[in-house]
Amino acid sequence: MEQHETMDRQSRPYGPSPSYILIPLLLLLVIVAGPIDCKPPNILFILADDYGFHDIGYHSSEIETPNLNRLAAGGVRLENYYVQPICTPTRSQLMSGKYQIHTGLQHEVIYPEMPSCLPLDDVTLAQKLKESGYATHIVGKWHLGLYKKACWPTRRGFDTYFGYLLGSEDYYTHKRMGGLDLRDQEEPAWNYNGVYSTHLFTQRAQDILRGQNSSQPLFLYLPFQAVHDPLEVPERYLQPYLHIKDEKRRIYAGMVACMDEGIGNITQTMDQLGLWKDTVLIFSTDNGGQIYQGGNNWPLRGWKGSLWEGGMHGIGFVHSPLLPAKVQGTINRELIHVSDWFPTLVAGLAGGSLNGTKLDGYNMWNTISRGDPSPREELLHNIDPLYAPPTTHSMPVIRAKVFNETIRAAIRSGDWKLITGSPGNSSWIPPPGSGITPPTPHDPPDKMVWLFNITADPNEYYDMSSQRPDVVQRLMQRLQYYYEGSMPAFFPPLDPRANPKYHNGTWSDWEK
Ligand SMILES: *[C@@H]1O[C@H](CO)[C@@H](O)[C@H](O)[C@H]1NC(C)=O
Ligand SMILES: *[C@@H]1O[C@H](CO)[C@@H](O)[C@H](O)[C@H]1NC(C)=O
Ligand SMILES: *[C@@H]1O[C@H](CO)[C@@H](O)[C@H](O)[C@H]1NC(C)=O
Ligand SMILES: *[C@@H]1O[C@H](CO)[C@@H](O)[C@H](O)[C@H]1NC(C)=O
Ligand SMILES: *[C@@H]1O[C@H](CO)[C@@H](O)[C@H](O)[C@H]1NC(C)=O
Ligand SMILES: *[C@@H]1O[C@H](CO)[C@@H](O)[C@H](O)[C@H]1NC(C)=O
Ligand SMILES: *[C@@H]1O[C@H](CO)[C@@H](O)[C@H](O)[C@H]1NC(C)=O
Repeated sequence: MEQHETMDRQSRPYGPSPSYILIPLLLLLVIVAGPIDCKPPNILFILADDYGFHDIGYHSSEIETPNLNRLAAGGVRLENYYVQPICTPTRSQLMSGKYQIHTGLQHEVIYPEMPSCLPLDDVTLAQKLKESGYATHIVGKWHLGLYKKACWPTRRGFDTYFGYLLGSEDYYTHKRMGGLDLRDQEEPAWNYNGVYSTHLFTQRAQDILRGQNSSQPLFLYLPFQAVHDPLEVPERYLQPYLHIKDEKRRIYAGMVACMDEGIGNITQTMDQLGLWKDTVLIFSTDNGGQIYQGGNNWPLRGWKGSLWEGGMHGIGFVHSPLLPAKVQGTINRELIHVSDWFPTLVAGLAGGSLNGTKLDGYNMWNTISRGDPSPREELLHNIDPLYAPPTTHSMPVIRAKVFNETIRAAIRSGDWKLITGSPGNSSWIPPPGSGITPPTPHDPPDKMVWLFNITADPNEYYDMSSQRPDVVQRLMQRLQYYYEGSMPAFFPPLDPRANPKYHNGTWSDWEK
């Protein structure tokens, strides 16, 4: 499949129509429904961090999420939905609509001292929504580049920014390795020491909503710090979970509860302000849960960071009063990926053009709002040529010309998923205290190729690579095709100039 411009005119609700149909129709609507609101819908995109597949109430979790459950129950739950296994990659695909092989971000995440960012010639989702007349705001985590101001969200299509540029900071001090990483627009925000970030970001999101000019469509991107480690939460959120013996799991449950409360508060504020009736909410995790930090992905195999389903088969749903009644409260099992939000939001919701972009994503609005079959038949999970040998934090010298099974990669094609190289720890991990005994993986340590029918076997129990060498060969060829068309992975050495001691105790840019 070529990289393509996704442009599904049929799905543009605000596209041109012959006036002899439109005018009588509009008159009819004015009579029946009152004045017509022709502006595209508000978009609230909430991204949770390291939120595990098992950790939302509707996945039979021991963690209660009343607000998320209610919103999902009245919306469309995405149950064949994929993100990337770690943070920067998912965010890069959300913001660019492109696979990592097309941005050079195939390997790991952007480290604090790393002179790297989402390539500056990539047009962002926020830029495109701005072109369509949206007010654009981001509250929370960026993690798409710090070293130059040109990488910052304020310079990449967002009107306002309140949040942090890296990851893993303290929830109260907003510091990472001693340096403050919290900004209001581009200025360090020193006045929030002691305020728990889920409260802080919820509050800021509500302030933005209250200041919103209701005649302009709004894009509010809310990438919460929750529920990534460090494991920290105000005491009161632990009360319902004192029975959970595993301490990490208990604190994590409290963090989820606080995030759920914040989301409830924000949706309530939107309702009170009259914004909710024409809003589309998208909720997604960025990757699988981290089992060593309280998260869980049972019954999926593996966890955060791996190419097993536990790393990237994500939680996601869409809720909107604008969805047709017949899809409200349904489960959607069409294949949808985080790279698809870009064209879905720009072309499907905002009625915008995708000019200036070369996307790997597809417009899924008809799939979500009408239950149409997904236009996506294939999904490249990733090809990471730097994964083995172990990370050295230096640029690679040799790059294999021909793809082979030693390279860490995974691809989905219809029901099939092929994994090559070293996908990460392959255990199934039940929730702590559940008493479930999981099966034991028994792959030989030098195994490098797996094939699963994910539709039949979503938990990856039955490797079919020896039964179906034909499918293995076909998908290896697809990986070779993508490998040939990929950019070199960019993973430059760390730069000591990043040290906060050179920036008045903050994480800041160090190159012009
Ligand atoms: C709200 O936005 C509209 C359209 O952009 C503009 O005409 C109007 O002046 C704005 N109102 C305020 C209070 O900013
Ligand atoms: C939600 O709103 C309630 C009532 O104002 C408040 O006590 C609580 O702290 C808010 N929660 C979050 C996460 O912002
Ligand atoms: C898309 O086209 C519009 C109108 O011609 C133009 O203003 C805008 O800059 C273009 N966007 C990109 C990213 O090329
Ligand atoms: C895979 O490619 C690498 C780099 O070219 C090479 O060193 C290795 O021998 C190849 N392995 C196989 C199994 O073909
Ligand atoms: C995978 O992780 C589990 C859980 O931490 C651990 O018990 C197991 O030894 C790991 N397996 C390998 C091969 O490292
Ligand atoms: C995968 O499994 C499903 C469910 O058993 C089956 O319907 C489907 O035909 C299988 N797909 C392939 C490509 O064999
Ligand atoms: C430098 O950091 C201190 C906090 O340590 C802060 O109060 C001060 O405003 C900062 N100065 C500048 C110029 O940002």
